[in-house]
Amino acid sequence: MNPDGLGQSLPTLPGRAFCFRWLGEADLPELQEIFGDADVVRFMALTRLTNRKQAQRFLNSILQGFASGTLYQWGLEYRGRIIGSCTLAAIDRSHRRAEIGFALARRFQGRGLMAEAVPLVLDFAFKQLALHRVEADVDPRNKASLVLLEKLGFRREGLLRERFTDEEGFQDSLMLGLLSREWCNANRPAASGGN
Ligand SMILES: CC(C)(COP(=O)(O)OP(=O)(O)OC[C@H]1O[C@@H](n2cnc3c(N)ncnc32)[C@H](O)[C@@H]1OP(=O)(O)O)[C@@H](O)C(=O)NCCC(=O)NCCS
Repeated sequence: MNPDGLGQSLPTLPGRAFCFRWLGEADLPELQEIFGDADVVRFMALTRLTNRKQAQRFLNSILQGFASGTLYQWGLEYRGRIIGSCTLAAIDRSHRRAEIGFALARRFQGRGLMAEAVPLVLDFAFKQLALHRVEADVDPRNKASLVLLEKLGFRREGLLRERFTDEEGFQDSLMLGLLSREWCNANRPAASGGN
């Protein structure tokens, strides 16, 4: 049973032209397409999904994360299709914090979609889950992610040297953080779902 009393599934977070919603078996082809793209997963601590079985395991871990309340991953639906996702991972109720992650199918990148969509999840994190802090662990080479996070108010807090490996060798992690009071007091338009 989900520890946040969310029932059987994550709530839909509606925006203007898209929404974040619960993922299911019908979304496996889109999940495989998004997370099977080497360019999308390049800076994510994730093994590329190369077949349906891996996509099913990926979906199973999302469902298990929901049941245990440790990982909430929404699909981003746009024009009837899942084109990306946003995740609150490592949810820690004692310290009221979580780690945010996001990904968009390559053809939808670079249009400012996530800057419009991620606020829906941040609102949920700070207002519904009453988290105190949301953090992000970013590969410093991932410029789009850094621009997006800083646009949303995240601050760079520290560089962890050679923290993980990829095919190019050991890579640093840049830690960013956003506090509840910073998000709730920021002078910005209400979260919306883009155009
Ligand atoms: C990170 C990601 C979700 C951003 O979403 P998006 O909707 O494409 O983001 P935007 O279109 O708002 O672009 C973000 C900003 O980065 C900038 N940007 C993109 N690539 C850049 C680069 N190589 N160098 C500098 N800036 C870059 C864009 O110009 C934009 O800035 P602007 O709004 O001031 O013009 C998307 O790129 C993605 O899915 N990447 C792959 C998965 C991933 O790396 N996830 C994050 C793991 S921490």
